[in-house]
Amino acid sequence: MSSARPVILLPGRINPHVRERVETEFEAVSIASADAALMDAQTLSRVQGVAAMTTISAEFIDALPNLTIIANFGVGYDAVDAAHAASRSVMVTNTPDVLSDEVADTTIGLLINTLRELPRAEAYLRAGRWASEGTYPLTPLTLRGRTAGIFGLGRIGLAIARRLQAFDVAIHYHTRNKRSDVDYPWHETLTDLAAAVDTLIVVVPGGAATDKAVNGGILDALGREGVLISVGRGSTIDEEALIKALEERRIAAAGLDVYAHEPHVPQALIDLPNACLLPHVASASVSTRNAMANLVVDNLAAWFDSRAAITPVPECAGLNAKA
Ligand code: DGY
Repeated sequence: MSSARPVILLPGRINPHVRERVETEFEAVSIASADAALMDAQTLSRVQGVAAMTTISAEFIDALPNLTIIANFGVGYDAVDAAHAASRSVMVTNTPDVLSDEVADTTIGLLINTLRELPRAEAYLRAGRWASEGTYPLTPLTLRGRTAGIFGLGRIGLAIARRLQAFDVAIHYHTRNKRSDVDYPWHETLTDLAAAVDTLIVVVPGGAATDKAVNGGILDALGREGVLISVGRGSTIDEEALIKALEERRIAAAGLDVYAHEPHVPQALIDLPNACLLPHVASASVSTRNAMANLVVDNLAAWFDSRAAITPVPECAGLNAKA
């Protein structure tokens, strides 16, 4: 790294470990949100890197003439216009791998909570109802005998599949292309997958290609015993169609960690007894978030040191300096 430290912009809320390391290792500039109007022309031209967990639009990228890298906090980078960044030769990085096991663990927890109603059973105990009313009702749903369909068999999907195998759950999957390294039955369409299983686990990235991919038709294909688990991005689920399917019991239950308009969750979903809801916490342990934070800052350091980011997103992989 040259003696003048690169200027890194921190727009909006950011993980505290990212902030601490950026402030120590770079020249940090903080603004309340990713809005170019919050900076004067001189500051705009000084920014060389961005570390963010917020929307980074094409317009914002264009407002930073000397920007060379955007380090996204999170494996999902649908909030960053990576195609536009690549067209301007701006590197974009994300945080794969370091969170896969944590997210997979949480997915299994959410699945079992949804089927066996464990959060509701605990609330029953805490309200004193066990002593006053007797045992909690038997749950109609169980993991026993279920067949899971994983929509998106990437790193996290595979980690979920490995865990489900240990639970003796049969696994099918749908991805755009069949994988050659797994034996699980592949389905060419999401509808075919939903029809073949009774438990649909959605772990695809957000973005235009998956927008509202899980719609009323997919939920009907999943069927009345069907359970939907969603841990990728809220945009992938047609929330209105899901609420209707849960209300009308066209599927049995849903467990969600992600929503279309976070942190706002539709009241109709909150009111449903057959929905088990988490506030986007799949990767949210201190150790996993610190590992993600380190990867964000390590990417910045590697980039300014050698122009070779550690985990470039696919759109920008070609921007890494050749060794
Ligand atoms: C991710 O890494 O994309 C998780 O959803 C946390 O934001």
